[in-house]
Amino acid sequence: MNKKTRLKLIISLSSVGALALGVFGFIYFSYLHHYKGKDVHYDWKETDPFDINSLPKVEKKSGEEFRILNFADIQICDLENMFNRDKVHKEMTYLVEQTKPHLITLTGDQTWSNENRYSLMNIISWLDDYKIPYAPIYGNHDFGNEGHVAVATPNYCCDLYENGKYSLFKRGPTNIDSLGNYAIRVMEDNKTYSLLYMVDSGVNEKVNDQQISYFKWIANGVKEVEGSLPKSFAFMHKPLPEYINAYYAYQSGVPGVEKRGEMYHYYYLGGSQQNGFFDFAQSINIDNIVAGHQHGNCFSIKYNGVWLTSSLKTGEFGGTIDNEEVYLSGATLFKLNNQSSELENIFVKKGQF
Ligand SMILES: [Fe+2]
Repeated sequence: MNKKTRLKLIISLSSVGALALGVFGFIYFSYLHHYKGKDVHYDWKETDPFDINSLPKVEKKSGEEFRILNFADIQICDLENMFNRDKVHKEMTYLVEQTKPHLITLTGDQTWSNENRYSLMNIISWLDDYKIPYAPIYGNHDFGNEGHVAVATPNYCCDLYENGKYSLFKRGPTNIDSLGNYAIRVMEDNKTYSLLYMVDSGVNEKVNDQQISYFKWIANGVKEVEGSLPKSFAFMHKPLPEYINAYYAYQSGVPGVEKRGEMYHYYYLGGSQQNGFFDFAQSINIDNIVAGHQHGNCFSIKYNGVWLTSSLKTGEFGGTIDNEEVYLSGATLFKLNNQSSELENIFVKKGQF
C-alpha cells in the first residue's frame, strides 16, 4: 500500500468513526440520557408567611372580556411525531388566531412517552412565539409512560417551563408530592378578579391532603389581603369523580344541572380519586373546574354550582368508536366578564392541517 492510498484509508476510517460517534452522541443525548435539571428544594409548611405578590399575574382590562384558551392533551413525542409535529403546531396557531386569547392554559399531557425533550422544547418555543402568557400543568404522561423515566425529568421540565419567555409556570413546593402546583391572579382594577388554581394531578391518581392544604393557604392568604375570594378556576389533568355524577345527573334531568356547549362522551367517565377536592373547591369559591385526560369526552356541566368541563383535546384524535366515525380535536375557550363565564369549543376538522 503506497503512502497516498494509506492516507485515503485513514481519512475514510476517520470519517466513518466521526460519523458513528456523532450518530451515537445524537441518539444518546436525545433519547437515552436523562436531563436532571436544577435540584430545587422548597419545603413549604402551613405556618409559612404568605406574600400575595409572589403569585404570577395577568391583567384583565376593566369591564372587558378576558379569554382563556385551554389546550388539552397535545401529546406529542420526539420519535413518533418526528415528521408530523408541524400539524399540531399549525392547529395550535389556528386556534390562537381564531380566539385571540389573553391567556393560554395547558391541562397536561403536553408530551407523552419517554422521548419528550425536543417535543417540550418545541411546544414552549411555539407558545413564546404567540407572545401571550401561558400556564401549563402536568398530566400523567409528561414525564414518560411509566413514572418519572423520561429523557426530560420533572425538574428539567420545570426548568424549561420556568425559562419560557411568556410562561407563568412557577414550581410549587417540593414536599407535597408533585412539583406543578401554583396559582395565578387575573387582575382587574388592581384587585384579583379571578384566581386560577393550577393543580398538578398528573402522575398521581389523586390530589393529596397536602396539595389541598397548600391551595387553602393561598386562598386564605388572598382573602386576608383583599377581604374576599373572587369566583375562581381550578385547572387539573384528571377529572374529578364528580364529573361522573354530573354527567348522569344531567342525562337524568336532575333540576339545576345544566350544560353549555357541545356534549360528547366517547370515553369512560371514570376519573381519579381526588380526595375531597370538589368540596374544597366549593369552599374557596371555585365555580369552574377544567380537566383534560379523557380525549374522547367533551362537555361542560353545572353541578352543585360548579361548571365541570372536560376540555376538547388538541391535536389529532379520532377513530371508529361504537361503530361511529369520531374526530374530536380543537380547544376550549373560556370568556370571563361581569362575574360570569361562557364557554366555546373550537373544533378543527380531520385533515384540516
Ligand atoms: Fe392523561
